[in-house]
Amino acid sequence: MKGHTKMRLKANGITVYVTKSYEEMSKKAAGIVMAQVIIKPDSILGFATGGTPIGMYKEMVRIYQNDGVDFSQIKTFNLDEYFPIKRDNQQSYAYYMDHNLFKHIHIPSNNIHIPDGESCDVALECETYNEQLYQNGGIDLQVLGIGNNGHIGFNEPDVCFEARTHLVQLDQETIEANARFFASEEEVPRQAISMGIGNIMHSRKILMLVSGKSKANIISKTLFGSISPTLPASILQLHNDVTVILDEEAAEEVLGNPEYTRLL
Ligand code: F6R
Repeated sequence: MKGHTKMRLKANGITVYVTKSYEEMSKKAAGIVMAQVIIKPDSILGFATGGTPIGMYKEMVRIYQNDGVDFSQIKTFNLDEYFPIKRDNQQSYAYYMDHNLFKHIHIPSNNIHIPDGESCDVALECETYNEQLYQNGGIDLQVLGIGNNGHIGFNEPDVCFEARTHLVQLDQETIEANARFFASEEEVPRQAISMGIGNIMHSRKILMLVSGKSKANIISKTLFGSISPTLPASILQLHNDVTVILDEEAAEEVLGNPEYTRLL
């Protein structure tokens, strides 16, 4: 097995790469995203925020600076944004994307789509975001992280899968997990605008990154457990082109499950 991968598996139809560290996971993921940009220079890319993909964005910037990959025709859609939040708040996902990626890669600002956390008409903002996704023909490659409770985007565990972009009430668990980015837990917005599960599942390819011991149990349940809106990420078992990249710690319980198939 060459490059950044220690092992390649199939788990319920999903391709899983196990890498030895966060750095290797990030490099592998950046390689996949940059290859997409090179192969299809007018790709529609779906991006995630949070702690996990920061290393991937850093590596993408490094590759961009070394190899001059062209982002001028790329369009991007982010999964979600807190609500309400000001764009220039350092904890907004608009600020995060600009800081970690967009300001480094010369991408036209009109090509960037992030739900508007300052909107005074949230219902209209959700509808507009859905429409923009649809008008642009959907996402070629969607990057995902996973919440400790199995959320993707901000689709929290629920009684049904929400299809379209919508306003979400964040779970207490999510608020606590994300408090590390804010001065205090009280400052974490209680709501967010998020792409729906339908939006995510319409992506032609999905790339999920998972790092650390704390995610070992939820990613194992996602890959091998039953499909249920109580674990939103489990629906990925029904998508036909999902790649999950794990670091060694996150892979612990997956590798303990006898149901995976090891690929050569
Ligand atoms: C962020 C997002 C979330 C995160 C998830 C994991 O745009 O959609 O689903 O991917 O909360 O966050 P981290 O990576 O901080 O553990």
